[in-house]
Amino acid sequence: MNNPATIDDVQKLLSEAGYVCGRPLATVVFLSLKLGRPLFLEGEAGVGKTEIAKALALMLGRRLIRLQCYEGLDAASAVYEWNFPAQMIAIRTAEAQGNADREVLQRELFGPDYLVERPLLQAMRPDEHGAPVLLIDELDRTDEPFEAFLLEALSDFQVTIPELGTIKAPEPPIVILTSNRTREVHDALKRRCLYHWVDYPDFAREVEILHAREPGVAETLSREIVAFVQALRTEDIFKKPGVAETIDWAKCLLALDVVDLSPEVISDTLGAILKYQDDIAKIQGSEAARLLKDAKATLEPG
Ligand SMILES: Nc1ncnc2c1ncn2[C@@H]1O[C@H](COP(=O)(O)OP(=O)(O)OP(=O)(O)O)[C@@H](O)[C@H]1O
Ligand SMILES: [Mg+2]
Repeated sequence: MNNPATIDDVQKLLSEAGYVCGRPLATVVFLSLKLGRPLFLEGEAGVGKTEIAKALALMLGRRLIRLQCYEGLDAASAVYEWNFPAQMIAIRTAEAQGNADREVLQRELFGPDYLVERPLLQAMRPDEHGAPVLLIDELDRTDEPFEAFLLEALSDFQVTIPELGTIKAPEPPIVILTSNRTREVHDALKRRCLYHWVDYPDFAREVEILHAREPGVAETLSREIVAFVQALRTEDIFKKPGVAETIDWAKCLLALDVVDLSPEVISDTLGAILKYQDDIAKIQGSEAARLLKDAKATLEPG
């Protein structure tokens, strides 16, 4: 599918793909598609950064290619590797058959049959459905040398493999980078991208997201769940719950046939929204009761 013609179209199409987004995010997605610029998304855990790339690929009918970053990730594992075990077997077989012509063998061993394509190379391959969506997820987990390498790869969308030559993307992929901001990503990389901070959604939007993801949760309970989680986010806790936790919690409550939140139910199921014992200890009991009371007060009409 072609790029959406307007910002409203982006918002509508993303929503059809299950992603609820406000106008600022829709605008930056629209611009990123229109200008062909990578989109750099930062935000707390579980606010829907990774999901944007998935929804975008779904909405455009493109292939999603994900490069999950981690400490120690190097260019080789991001671009390509040679299939070493298969190369060894081929050498042994050629030796055993007595036809080990070195030059021919070498050409074959470093040819397409033994090339293992990693995400960055995959993303440069032509695709009948159009350029793929390349998700470079959790960039803050890698180190600076990898970032420098990425900067280069993203500027010309080509890769040189000494044995095979240069491979260039016929059409640049749609690139989404995400970071949880455990460290600052270098300015040079950011400068190439359009930037958006993905914040926690406000009450109405979070209720909408919950509806989209867990339609089985009744209206009243959805509103209570979201109001409580939103109240919880204002507390001084170590790890605030993201939207992912709101959805998880709703699933748990649904499984327990809960129709209405009570301090007891909350204390029993806190593990779905808080993942640190210190936070749980702090909120459990009277604090949960107080937060629930505050949350319910915000729901009362007028
Ligand atoms: N705006 C949204 N519309 C629909 N679903 C959403 C939205 N935001 C979050 N979600 C849901 O929340 C879940 C978590 O989102 P996601 O994995 O994208 O978060 P993240 O920001 O990448 O988190 P992390 O930093 O932990 O990787 C998704 O599975 C998705 O179902
Ligand atoms: Mg993520």
